[in-house]
Amino acid sequence: MLGAADKKRSAVESGSEKVAETATATAPGDLAQAPMAAKAKTIEARNVNLYYGAFHAVENVTLTIAPNKVTALIGSSGCGKTTFLRSLNRMHELTPGATVEGEITLDGEDMYASGVDPVRVRRLVGMVFQAPNPFPTMSIYDNVASGLNLNATRIKKAQKDEVVERSLRGANLWDEVKDRLDKPGLSLSGGQQQRLCIARATAVEPEVLLMDEPCSALDPVATLAIEDLIGELKSRYTIAIVTHNMQQAARASDLTAFFNLEESGKPGRLVEVGETETIFTNPTQKATEDYVTGRFG
Ligand SMILES: Nc1ncnc2c1ncn2[C@@H]1O[C@H](COP(=O)(O)OP(=O)(O)OP(=O)(O)O)[C@@H](O)[C@H]1O
Ligand SMILES: [Mg+2]
Repeated sequence: MLGAADKKRSAVESGSEKVAETATATAPGDLAQAPMAAKAKTIEARNVNLYYGAFHAVENVTLTIAPNKVTALIGSSGCGKTTFLRSLNRMHELTPGATVEGEITLDGEDMYASGVDPVRVRRLVGMVFQAPNPFPTMSIYDNVASGLNLNATRIKKAQKDEVVERSLRGANLWDEVKDRLDKPGLSLSGGQQQRLCIARATAVEPEVLLMDEPCSALDPVATLAIEDLIGELKSRYTIAIVTHNMQQAARASDLTAFFNLEESGKPGRLVEVGETETIFTNPTQKATEDYVTGRFG
């Protein structure tokens, strides 16, 4: 459990959103020593409250993100899905004034305990953002290798080549880019850029992948490609995905968590969580039924 002194944390003053995203995408780790993720890990959030200054954005969420499953987070705009997701890899605290209360563990380890390095947490719990954000000045190859380059241990070129190829294959992008790895990441289509960002996130061998509306900027074909990829990635990772697309939640997730906002200005709450099929066909709460059937609002 968190000590009383740890209960409320002050923000890291320096982090703008952009810096935060870049920091996560390139978080250094000891990849050279890290084994392939053997078994995916469980994230458990208990009584989590999230604040932006005095504003209470997320209230008392207790939720388990199960290993080797895809958990969809759904709910109306402003109910705290992104805020909650960002607390699961210690990115919330990068917003000036933002604080976290409660307990969040990764396979039982308190990720907010004093002495835990947030950079290490962000390497273990990777993030893919709404808009594809390849590093604009970097080649396809360097984008994928960027997390490795920051490593304390120098990695041999051959080993780097191997990680880049494996990550691009894992993101179903290798065949499309293998002959132009030196071209800018930005020369790819939007869907390819998002798969590049997934390759970049997986290159450092995280345990968990958090995705915040990863398909919202993509066309239906690119969206289905990402959904297929998510289905494949879950054999290795624990995945949480925020989506506004109910078909996507139904198609791509095993479990669904519905968040809701009683009224604007109030904190968002977790209404219910369960097997995706149950949430969509036979939820226990009326608010969930109204939302998933489109009768919301
Ligand atoms: N940096 C911030 N500073 C202050 N308040 C914020 C900040 N980011 C989000 N909020 C507020 O916190 C609440 C939850 O926002 P959040 O972005 O988590 O919602 P969301 O469920 O992801 O919405 P959407 O579906 O529109 O992405 C909102 O009231 C929002 O205005
Ligand atoms: Mg959001």
